[in-house]
Amino acid sequence: MRWEGLLKAYKDYLPVNEHTPLLTLNEGNTPLIRLNKLSDEWGIDLYVKTEGTNPTGSFKDRGMVMAIAKAKEEGSDTVICASTGNTSAAAAAYAARAGLRCIVVIPEGKIAMGKLAQAVMYGAEIISIEGNFDEALAMVRRISETESITLVNSVNPYRLEGQKTAAFEICDQLGSAPDILALPVGNAGNISAYWKGFKEYHEGKETGLPRMHGFEADGAAAIVHNRIFEHPETVATAIRIGNPASWHLATEALRESAGKIDEVSDEEILCMYRKLASSEGIFAEPASCASLAGIYKQLRNGEIPHQTRIVAILTGNGLKDPNSAIEYSPVQPIVLPNDMFAVAEHIKGVVRA
Ligand code: F0G
Repeated sequence: MRWEGLLKAYKDYLPVNEHTPLLTLNEGNTPLIRLNKLSDEWGIDLYVKTEGTNPTGSFKDRGMVMAIAKAKEEGSDTVICASTGNTSAAAAAYAARAGLRCIVVIPEGKIAMGKLAQAVMYGAEIISIEGNFDEALAMVRRISETESITLVNSVNPYRLEGQKTAAFEICDQLGSAPDILALPVGNAGNISAYWKGFKEYHEGKETGLPRMHGFEADGAAAIVHNRIFEHPETVATAIRIGNPASWHLATEALRESAGKIDEVSDEEILCMYRKLASSEGIFAEPASCASLAGIYKQLRNGEIPHQTRIVAILTGNGLKDPNSAIEYSPVQPIVLPNDMFAVAEHIKGVVRA
């Protein structure tokens, strides 16, 4: 049967009624791929859910299709969000599809090139502020309270409703919930959404519950250290967030699931960023790789036993951030004359080396 997106597939689990437009860009139904090499190397049973295969290249499409459909249903004509990039790409795309005006507020110079390209192409009105994500979010929250504009950040509960569907898919793809669900944490909406999804599916289908392991970048690790980071910094710009809006929900998910919030360094993130692409053929953006970096760290610390079944969420596509790829990859294109012999000689030299 043709896949027609989340609102149709999961309408029984979502706030979809006869007035809700069945908006879709055929989001969801993303692959769950076993990482064979890393599973062997690390002695675990490791899978990744490649959320970068969603229509705008990140998990945000799951939440945005729901939030924009409800905004449309409620008669709103304008949506607004703050974003480190992916939310703005998804909001802009779904707003375009639904015929709504879209305003995005982004931190100047701190969003990846691909994400900016998307917002521009989907026709959003883009406001770049000399501030960080937390400041942008505070601003749009205030604006949406006084103007008749719908806020589509993850503090909009419909966002988490849409995002919880990824947990349903994992249970269906694996046959049950994994032992551990690992994911990067920024504003902490996604970890809260997954936990809600696992609980709801378990209630109806007894699919089991995972322990939730969230990973912040160590330069933006508010929940780990239980304090706001006024000046969050990390190479993983998607999770460069110092005051997560869903802090409380995330803490609850961690407690209820007997999970753990931990931090990883930029170096650890970049190491997994390269390793995932070059050894498994999967290219995810830096923030996504915090999940694998975190698993590796906890394996080395003995916090994760061998043979554990783990699903790591790769939240965004690697192509979102071409500059990081070029900057942090050890591979540089070699420039040679347009001459077959020169190229052949070079290849032989490399093989012998
Ligand atoms: N991974 C990626 C690729 C993201 O873009 C984000 C959040 C996260 C992880 C963290 O998810 O915020 O639910 O904990 N990006 C937001 C944005 C903040 O504006 O695109 P979270």
